[in-house]
Amino acid sequence: MDIPRTLDKQTIPKHVAIVMDGNGRWAKKRNLPRVAGHNAGMIALKEIVKASSVLGLKHLTVYAFSTENWKRPEEEVKGIFKLLIIYIEKELAELHKNNVKVNILGDYQQLPKEALTKLEKSLETTRDNTGLQFNIALNYGGRREILRAAQLLAKDFSEGKISEEQMTEEYFASKLYTKGIPDPDLVIRTSGEMRLSNYLLWQSAYSEFVYTNVLWPDFTPKDLETAIASFQHRKRRYGGV
Ligand code: IPE
Ligand code: IPE
Ligand code: MG
Repeated sequence: MDIPRTLDKQTIPKHVAIVMDGNGRWAKKRNLPRVAGHNAGMIALKEIVKASSVLGLKHLTVYAFSTENWKRPEEEVKGIFKLLIIYIEKELAELHKNNVKVNILGDYQQLPKEALTKLEKSLETTRDNTGLQFNIALNYGGRREILRAAQLLAKDFSEGKISEEQMTEEYFASKLYTKGIPDPDLVIRTSGEMRLSNYLLWQSAYSEFVYTNVLWPDFTPKDLETAIASFQHRKRRYGGV
């Protein structure tokens, strides 16, 4: 696979963020349990990570589990983390071989023990890789992230490390999970929903959005290319003329 001719090589987005939505509906359509939808979603993800490397993205960020997803039935939540463990077990060697660096956004320390151990291993193994950075938003919530940054900022202030004048947007952003990561150029949401659901609230201030009715398990590298092609036709103004 190479960069398709339908895309302009010069304006490939540096950072694409995806809300992988629609696993449950995909399963429902087939009379399968919701977890089967999450399993199919993992398979789709594998291909998207590979395609992102080939397309030359610097960052791919995926929303895998939100701070609100704990509200789901225990069986589903357990199933999701079990699949995450399987995904890392199966994919880590390949990710590493492809020079992918794994990174986690969110309060992942609170995840079930086995998932945490596997995640930490994937972070450690791929730490020095220089290809695609694959950011997995896990137990992630945009509001929690912003609140946490405010708390860290307040701490620095009360300890005399910074003055009020030094509280800039850059300083604030350095307290977010996404420290050092450029803001997403493009945010994609599958399954026809048109909302952020607490995803990258600070970071998506000037992102371009692409919504598609395709359910996440059916989302292919071709759909990613279509989304990027749509992005390439946008005129980003950042408030200017
Ligand atoms: C997204 O698919 C995956 C997670 C939130 C973990 P959903 O499970 O939300 O699928 P729908 O929205 O119910 O179809
Ligand atoms: C957002 O999807 C979270 C993830 C994809 C992990 P949801 O399915 O949880 O969002 P809502 O509930 O439809 O807003
Ligand atoms: Mg959903």
